[in-house]
Amino acid sequence: MNLTDKLEKNKDLTDSEFEELIAAEDEDTKEYLALRARAVRESIYKKDVYLRGLIEFTNYCKNDCLYCGIRRSNKNAARYRLSEEQILNCCDSGYKLGFRTFVLQGGEDAYFTDDVLIPLIEEIKRRHPDCALTLSIGERERDSYQRLFDAGADRYLLRHETADKAHYESLHPKEMSFEHRMKCLYDLKEIGYQVGCGMMIGSPGQEIKHLVKDLRFLQELKPEMVGIGPFIPHHDTPFSDKETGSVDITLKLLSIIRLMLPDCLLPATTALGTADGLGREKGILAGANVVMPNLSPTDVRDKYLLYDNKICTGDEAAECIRCMTLRVKKVGYEVVQSRGDHKNFVKN
Ligand code: 5AD
Ligand code: FES
Repeated sequence: MNLTDKLEKNKDLTDSEFEELIAAEDEDTKEYLALRARAVRESIYKKDVYLRGLIEFTNYCKNDCLYCGIRRSNKNAARYRLSEEQILNCCDSGYKLGFRTFVLQGGEDAYFTDDVLIPLIEEIKRRHPDCALTLSIGERERDSYQRLFDAGADRYLLRHETADKAHYESLHPKEMSFEHRMKCLYDLKEIGYQVGCGMMIGSPGQEIKHLVKDLRFLQELKPEMVGIGPFIPHHDTPFSDKETGSVDITLKLLSIIRLMLPDCLLPATTALGTADGLGREKGILAGANVVMPNLSPTDVRDKYLLYDNKICTGDEAAECIRCMTLRVKKVGYEVVQSRGDHKNFVKN
């Protein structure tokens, strides 16, 4: 039996088999892997593609991750913070455009304490009770995650970035710890959030064996969503001269994750669309079932730059949703208006 069939049947492979599949270069293997990933995705989610409206509400960040364009040491980053009113307006206009999930994403900005976020979360849920609210605001303590959940947040995105401790430490400053990152993810799960984790593909120093560790970590955490995209250098970071991660390996990993965790939510990410003009379409054809168009006001779009050449920084939300709907349709899938919960998620 070939590795793709074996992975589909057992939802698992040995470490060396995973390595072989991730490294596979021949077109037949790659095409068959994507074909089976699509079949599995369609058996669960049909042709549906879910939308997430991404609101990048602050690029202030106390962290200094070596790969990231909004790291605190980047003195060239023009900082901004949306007001509560601007954030609510983004949600209102997003709702009219058909979004039923809002993702509040930002740097680790000390302004946004629990006491600031809680009334904001409550107001978004009061205005849009049929929408899911996702937070993506980095590492916090467990009681903070609990309070934000109790205020109405449904989901949390926090990429683990890499499941290898030494590799994690090579991508982050001393004051950040691998153990705390992991603790955050398990806390979020225990509290009852639908959790998204994920890793960059081709980040400096990454080896295939690290990616196998990432897969093992996904098997253990069982996140509802897995966000992956190629590493892309940013000119004002210590990694400015590093190479962009491989689109090909990103696509293989999307398919492998689809076969390993059949019902997980897999976005075709903006980084994938940046590294390759048709990256998001290719992602969908590799088994992804989520796209995350940007809902941020256009005047701040070009300030939330985690990496160079980010797409969609000049487009209105309405334009992005129109463009994404067409792109998805072109490859035979359909953007649907839905919260797009994980299949096994039971709303209480
Ligand atoms: N290239 C690609 N992805 C990046 N991210 C941050 N910086 C980069 C980069 N240079 C990703 C990280 C982070 C997410 C919000 O964006 O994985 O968790
Ligand atoms: Fe933003 Fe195409 S998705 S312009």
